Amino acid sequence: MKAIILLGAPGAGKGTLAEGVRNATSFIHVSTGDMLRAAIKAGTQTGLEAKAFMDKGELVPDNVILRIVSERLAQGAPEDQYMFDGFPRTLEQARQLDETLAQHDAKVNQVFLLEVPTPVIVSRLSGRRICKSCGAVYHVTNIPPKVADVCDQCGGPLYQRPDDSEATVLNRLDVYQRQTASLIDFYERKGVLVRINAGSDPQSATAELLSKLN
Ligand code: AP5
Ligand code: MG
Repeated sequence: MKAIILLGAPGAGKGTLAEGVRNATSFIHVSTGDMLRAAIKAGTQTGLEAKAFMDKGELVPDNVILRIVSERLAQGAPEDQYMFDGFPRTLEQARQLDETLAQHDAKVNQVFLLEVPTPVIVSRLSGRRICKSCGAVYHVTNIPPKVADVCDQCGGPLYQRPDDSEATVLNRLDVYQRQTASLIDFYERKGVLVRINAGSDPQSATAELLSKLN
């Protein structure tokens, strides 16, 4: 088993880069945000527990997150290579991930920190649109669909994430600084942190990440 992490503020481009890496490698994309949104859509107990936190831009409790991640890893095979997106987000999650990986004789191989200036992040999130049918991610000006509000890939309708409203975005950025940014130091000390300039266009950022992937 192999594990890499995409670390970065909301809107840094974790999901967008993950798509590019997945297309170029055999990494399995594990986004806890996507898993939680799927649980809300399916109306499961996990979705019910998570929804109120997500709507406010607060973190979902560690026990809920750790349960869904360990359930996902338990379905995997020993040779699987995972690319975590939006996980871990607290020191507790990071420590638990280390323990879980150790049980599989594995460790976190590399952590890619996506660095983007804050004003860029705010405009990325306010312009984000997502396909309701297939989940493809667009941006009204940066990465527009060919026809407004229609997915290029499947023709599905595009929507705005409920937590992309301005007030919630500002809270998510604050939560990132308070609860997640300390992971930068945690992984730097372990010698696995790799910085990526994610403020450029998606192709350049993806190419930089792929060139630094061991
Ligand atoms: P999650 O879904 O993980 O959201 P997030 O971290 O806030 O990150 P985003 O998905 O908003 O941004 P992204 O970095 O993926 O950017 P994207 O590629 O879409 O989490 C949502 C919520 O779930 C959390 O608030 C929390 O409540 C809960 N949660 C999830 N995981 C948790 C955990 N581990 N612990 C506790 N709670 C958890 O790009 C953004 C926009 O920019 C798009 O429009 C895109 O088209 C555009 N864009 C991207 N890259 C570029 C580029 N290079 N140039 C121009 N435009 C770009
Ligand atoms: Mg995302």
